[in-house]
Amino acid sequence: QSTAPHVVVLFGAAGDLAKRKLLPGMANLVLSSLAPDIEIVGTSLEDLDDDTYREQAKAALDEFDRRRLTDDEWRHFAEKLHYVPSKAGPKALAQAVAAAAGRLGPSARRIHYLSVPPKAALAAVETIRDAGLVEGSRIIMEKPFGTDLASAIELNRRLHETFDEGQIFRIDHFLGKEPAQNILAIRFGNGLFEPIWNRNFIQQIQIDVPETLGLEQRASFYEATGAYRDMVVTHLFQILAFVAMEAPTALEPKAISEEKNKVFNSMKPIDPASVVRGQYVGYKDIPGVSPESDTETFVALKCEIDNWRWAGVPFYLRTGKKLAEGQRIVSIAFKEPPQSMFPAGSGIGAKGPDHLTFDLADASKMSLSFYGKKPGPGMRLDKMSMQFAMQDTANAGDVLEAYERLILDAMRGDHTLFTSAAGIERLWEVSQPLLDDAPPVRPYAVGSWGPNAIHQLIAPYAWRLPFER
Ligand code: BG6
Repeated sequence: QSTAPHVVVLFGAAGDLAKRKLLPGMANLVLSSLAPDIEIVGTSLEDLDDDTYREQAKAALDEFDRRRLTDDEWRHFAEKLHYVPSKAGPKALAQAVAAAAGRLGPSARRIHYLSVPPKAALAAVETIRDAGLVEGSRIIMEKPFGTDLASAIELNRRLHETFDEGQIFRIDHFLGKEPAQNILAIRFGNGLFEPIWNRNFIQQIQIDVPETLGLEQRASFYEATGAYRDMVVTHLFQILAFVAMEAPTALEPKAISEEKNKVFNSMKPIDPASVVRGQYVGYKDIPGVSPESDTETFVALKCEIDNWRWAGVPFYLRTGKKLAEGQRIVSIAFKEPPQSMFPAGSGIGAKGPDHLTFDLADASKMSLSFYGKKPGPGMRLDKMSMQFAMQDTANAGDVLEAYERLILDAMRGDHTLFTSAAGIERLWEVSQPLLDDAPPVRPYAVGSWGPNAIHQLIAPYAWRLPFER
């Protein structure tokens, strides 16, 4: 079912996210039957016009689109792209939006996408207001939402001066990933997992998102942001909520948000002593990065949820740039049996607990590892596993990329997979001890798994990654 015609006003239209995800995503929405009628009005500090913006967009799609557009498809999409440099002012933006709406007809709706760093968000909101483009429109806000508790509260307050909460969509694209939603389906769609989803059966949980990517073209954003604000307080904590929350009374925005916020409210404030910050060797040489930079490009930490379900179960989170592998996993380690009837040397215990592992990568997988009998004489155990791969399912072709899914949901007014102001503020509150008293960054080698201190952090357990070959 296709979506109503929309003018998408894209702030930060020449930025890295627009090129890497938003333009390819919108091209796919246009070319599929999901949102065929959209017109995009891009704006940013760069001095471009429609033609030069289209050239930039073409280069971006050639590099980042997961499916290659044919020439005809590109021409069809290119016609929908327009550009107004921010220096042209709100009036010029209003005119371009009105022209785009005119091409779509009277039923056209409007959505603003703020793909800008936190410090530029309010200026963009002002532009929208000065251009008279508030009424009847929706607004998608990119993360990180503020840089600490005070700035998030202020941002929410200022935002509410212009937009109603119902108009605001705070995006966290990890929640738009198909496998992230599958965590909810697996947990609450089955009787099998829920009874063991608690402190009685689970030993520890890891949410591990190492990246091989560096900063790409984002040095100034990243230098002011760092790995914790870029990834942990946003994506990793949102995924943690899906893993840890109680069953919502319904799969509806309010019910889900309430349960997620209960998790956030039960989180213990982050203890700086349980955090390892790292910076890869060579980071300081990047143009735009200070030679004295203290920005972390890596962070690993332990956090705890102080409620009946999770008391005593550590959650270990890790993410960083320029690491050995790109992975996005949630790994649930189960407690070992209380007694072993298998003699020493039979294989059990040697390789640790059973795991349920969610792979949040685009080619999503889920696997359950356990001990079984090694074929042959006698009783020896071996690690075995059962796997589910989304790409093997009949509807694998219907998978939407995270941004496609979320832009579509926002156009349809569905808040289910978006984050709430209260939840975000609580996450900054939990983070404040770390922000106030961050441990020094430790150097780590490009291509490693982070500073050595990560092993002490997780002891007596071990990081699940790298997977054994
Ligand atoms: C973004 C971060 O939100 O998520 C990036 O700003 C990071 O630094 C990216 O690389 C990871 O997203 P994905 O979907 O590629 O795992």
